[in-house]
Amino acid sequence: MVPDIDQLHREAVAAIRAAGDLKALEELRVHYTGRRSQLRQVLGSIGSLPADKRRSVGQSAGRAQKDIEAALGERQQVLKLEQEAGDTLDVTLPGRPPRQGQPHPLSATADELVDALRHMGFAVADGPEVEDEYHNFDALNTPADHPARDDHDTFYLDDGSLLRTHTSTVQIRIMETQPPPIRVLSVGRCYRKETVDATHHMIFHQIEGLYVDEGVSLADLKGTLTALAQRVLGERTQIRFRPHFFPFTEPSVEYDFSCTICDQRGEVEGRRCRVCKGTGWIEIGGAGMVDPNVFRHVGYDDEKFSGFAFGFGIERVAMIRHGIDDIRLFLESDMRFTRQFSS
Ligand code: FA5
Repeated sequence: MVPDIDQLHREAVAAIRAAGDLKALEELRVHYTGRRSQLRQVLGSIGSLPADKRRSVGQSAGRAQKDIEAALGERQQVLKLEQEAGDTLDVTLPGRPPRQGQPHPLSATADELVDALRHMGFAVADGPEVEDEYHNFDALNTPADHPARDDHDTFYLDDGSLLRTHTSTVQIRIMETQPPPIRVLSVGRCYRKETVDATHHMIFHQIEGLYVDEGVSLADLKGTLTALAQRVLGERTQIRFRPHFFPFTEPSVEYDFSCTICDQRGEVEGRRCRVCKGTGWIEIGGAGMVDPNVFRHVGYDDEKFSGFAFGFGIERVAMIRHGIDDIRLFLESDMRFTRQFSS
């Protein structure tokens, strides 16, 4: 009686692959391929089988033998390697410390800025990145036909919503829901349809501050920004205001921080400073006194209250802190870049 060779074939290969050690494997070898194994007996009896069966039985048995021997060889190699690794384990060696993660330079800079502003009494507020036109433009005194919209072209979704171009949207959302006095900050991602270069990206991060109360002045704005710059970039950092225009602030300014890379000398080791481009100053962001029209949009009494707002790019500050000369590096997820910054 010829055993079911295919069944034997499958059973043997499965058992061999599951063998736990070399001793068990040797037992399986003897059982499935040894002199007294079923397979050997089949192979030895082929000549005595009826002629019409010889060919098919011979082929099946030959195939089974080949596969079983290959499985034995493979398993033996794996088990030997495992055994060797076990034999050479030196328990006296010091362990390998797991690699610890660290905050991305942008997150670390944002955390410091938030921390500094919280110490000055600003509470953290949040707003959506997918915005409506009203909060991104109209409520910020920038109606559809306003030329300032050209500088804030962005990505629109099918339903008419858009990816916010600045964090100033959060000013409106907060003032819509809370009466003055207000002192809030907001941090987050912004988007613009921008040609990407070393200092501009279509995805970047801003931090926004808003302070509304009775008697808030431009001097408070300058004092707040100076304290913030000195806390994050060092005591010697200076700040300067330049006249500017934003539809939602009046008067409006742009402000620069003094370059801490070249200490305002404009050069480092005889070469033009690549961070401030030799000017000694770095443009950081925009600010101003909240325009009375914005107060009217959110129902604040513009006779009684005044306020300042400011916004700037976190990438810019991180670039000054670390002497990074290309904004694209922040988003490339290249570990060789991110590992250079310990928190
Ligand atoms: C604004 O976004 C205003 N919302 C700032 C503001 C807030 C003014 C409150 C008045 C009151 P502006 O478009 O200039 O302004 O951008 C401010 C800062 O964001 C820039 O100075 C820069 O630091 C950063 N920024 C703007 N566009 C980009 C960009 N494409 N890539 C990287 N940083 C950018």
